Amino acid sequence: MKVIRSVKELSQLTEALRSEGKSIGLVPTMGALHAGHRSLVDRSVKENDVTVVSVFVNPTQFNNAHDLATYPRTEEADCQMLEQAGADYAFVPSVEEMYPVPDTRQFDLGEVAAVMEGPMRPGHFNGVAQVVSRLMEYSHPTRAYFGEKDFQQIAVIRRMVELLGLDVEIVDCPIVREPDGLAMSSRNVRLTAEGRKVAPSIHSILAESTQWVNELTPDEVIDRVIALTNSENGLEVEYYQIVNALTMQPLNSWPKEGEPDAVGCITVYCGDVRLIDNIKYPRS
Ligand code: PAF
Repeated sequence: MKVIRSVKELSQLTEALRSEGKSIGLVPTMGALHAGHRSLVDRSVKENDVTVVSVFVNPTQFNNAHDLATYPRTEEADCQMLEQAGADYAFVPSVEEMYPVPDTRQFDLGEVAAVMEGPMRPGHFNGVAQVVSRLMEYSHPTRAYFGEKDFQQIAVIRRMVELLGLDVEIVDCPIVREPDGLAMSSRNVRLTAEGRKVAPSIHSILAESTQWVNELTPDEVIDRVIALTNSENGLEVEYYQIVNALTMQPLNSWPKEGEPDAVGCITVYCGDVRLIDNIKYPRS
């Protein structure tokens, strides 16, 4: 595996590969790689001739300076893991390389960005659109791979791809969980021992709530999930919403046959660590 740090080098290389008819899979990451990322890389390696994995902690998507400063950075271990997984290129640029001048673009991300993480993290999705559009421009991907843990992010990226008219297939990949159910996240390493013990309740409560669709409305499920989660020592829900899986808009009733799925999206503080997770509801 080759480590590339220059935009120009990556761009020339991937352009040449595409003109030879090779398919390219792009796996954008912020590093601190875990088994969730590994599943994206494995899938890309299986589905494409060449896999490019970017490792870049993107400052423009952080609306909280403390979160940016404490975001784990483990480049050496990341590159080892990528080599083992069979990735062809790790793209590891500096901030100056990615943003030689500030990116002032404002994307019209529409309704999918107007709810949940949108208002909670002002500027976050615009920053994601800035960096992912650049990564796509520089790596000429046939397909790009994203994890469903950041469920709303995938909808935002699809919208950005549509806005810019990019010819790339967005592939969403299932959440990978620890054996106790906690969704894998680079932020999990920042949990205290107590926090790590209680954090799996987030998923177990969501999983239990999928059994309530015949008795309760979405609003009632939301209230009960929030109450149960907050009753766990050390967990505090920031929001829980049940939304249309495509539009991200909140649902007043469960979807009918032929309508998109209902997905519950949660954000929970476990101490000062902000965890997110989601679950798909079965048809009632
Ligand atoms: O999901 C992430 O890790 C980031 O938001 C992404 C897509 C790599 C963009 O920086």
